[in-house]
Amino acid sequence: MRKIRVFDTTLRDGEQSPGATLTHREKIMIARQLEKLGVDVIEAGFPIASDDDFKAVKEIAETVKGLSVCGLARAMPKDIDRAWEAIQNAKKPRIHTFMSTSDVHLKHQFKKTRDEALEMSVEAVKLACSYCKDVEFSPMDATRTDPKFLFQVLEKVIEAGAGTVNIPDTVGYAQPVEFGKLIKNICDNVPGIENAVVSVHCHNDLGLAVANSLEAVRNGAGQVECTVNGIGERAGNASLEEIAMNLHTRSEFFGVCTSINLKEIYPSSLMVSNLTGMAVQRNKAIVGKNAFAHEAGIHQHGVLANSQTYEIMDPEMIGNKSQFVLGKHSGKHATKKVLKDMGFDLSDDELKQVTNRIKQLADKQKTVLDEDIVAIAGDVTQQLKKEEKRIVLEEFRIETGNKVKPTAILKLIIDGKKVEAKGTGVGPVDAITNALQSVSPTKVSLHEYHLNAITGGTDALADVEVKIVNGSGKVHNAEAINEDVLTASTNAIIKGINKALANKK
Ligand code: KIV
Ligand code: ZN
Repeated sequence: MRKIRVFDTTLRDGEQSPGATLTHREKIMIARQLEKLGVDVIEAGFPIASDDDFKAVKEIAETVKGLSVCGLARAMPKDIDRAWEAIQNAKKPRIHTFMSTSDVHLKHQFKKTRDEALEMSVEAVKLACSYCKDVEFSPMDATRTDPKFLFQVLEKVIEAGAGTVNIPDTVGYAQPVEFGKLIKNICDNVPGIENAVVSVHCHNDLGLAVANSLEAVRNGAGQVECTVNGIGERAGNASLEEIAMNLHTRSEFFGVCTSINLKEIYPSSLMVSNLTGMAVQRNKAIVGKNAFAHEAGIHQHGVLANSQTYEIMDPEMIGNKSQFVLGKHSGKHATKKVLKDMGFDLSDDELKQVTNRIKQLADKQKTVLDEDIVAIAGDVTQQLKKEEKRIVLEEFRIETGNKVKPTAILKLIIDGKKVEAKGTGVGPVDAITNALQSVSPTKVSLHEYHLNAITGGTDALADVEVKIVNGSGKVHNAEAINEDVLTASTNAIIKGINKALANKK
């Protein structure tokens, strides 16, 4: 069967999702998990974008070995130099350079003519090839580009040495049939195309990213670009798990294969949603909580008689085997093994903390599920360093009810000094936020607040995610879990403010 390369851009386009910022350590954990998942290429970041991006791409390049590590670069020498600096130590480095080709982008954004765009593209590919033998080129906004000009650009960049030409549906505008035709036309008509792999990169603005990618595969694409859980700019990118499971479940239809290790799909999804703070919608195909849940009696009856009646995929096949894996009798070694299988690499001290919290939870809940374990591990790994905890909570009290004004009183240590903060609000979380704002050393506001009961039930772990915005508008994500909703809320807001303070420094 023809092999389709899977190019994962969770750490680049995915991380561009509003509010999905990852720390350096989280990026490394996700890169390692993507290696286990069996993707062919990781787009590790955009090295010129910031020093943090550069450092993360560099470390990923030096850490993962079994796949290509790619750095993104605009078609500009300084971007390409920086991308190469970041990835040069990778076992298999790749430079991905891009330039817009649609008239609407060239006229309004780049103020360039088509000829100038063509020249920049060719020069960028030549420079990238002088560093690295694996070079990919993307004509951004390809689906709104005049096909004649698009074909000309593709021909010239292949001539210049690009081994992969990626066709981005940057704004998610294409329809499956026309996108399939475009890919077929490229494969049939671009001179020299036999020397390059045709890749596709679809966005989901009209909900068609996966359908467009699959249609492209049917018409000759040899690489698909996608992200775990479909995260990405605006409505996201094509979802890796949906593409992989379509190609697997309907392999007789597509006649192609991938190197994806299906059992790592669910652990990867859990890790990415936990670390990015981007929850997966319940009814999301493949990895949503309801993806394998049968509610209707007639369906339950069928599945009990024979699972094939209503299940076209086996949840265990994608590693979704939520079960009682750890409990109050589990020790550090068992915890380490389970967490390692889920992609978490923790220090001894962190492992001890996770083990203790699992035991505490097992005392209260009958079952400890994969989701609980990932949430606890995520909470522990996201802990701030001691010096970053300028605000420490000692104690808090909340008064609330239908006849009283919700009031929060917090005893805190701020920069080593005892401080008492009092606030009222429309509800207890608002009261906590107002109390903290009144004593915060920097101006902050609560931009978003999400509460999720991790495994359902009234005794479930409460997972609170917040976005704290500082005076200059920078967003800081923070998450805390606890069996008590208000403790989780207070801890998450304090963590967010501490992050804002650390960043200000
Ligand atoms: O969507 C897009 O066009 C991109 C390019 C950089 C490939 O992300
Ligand atoms: Zn994109």
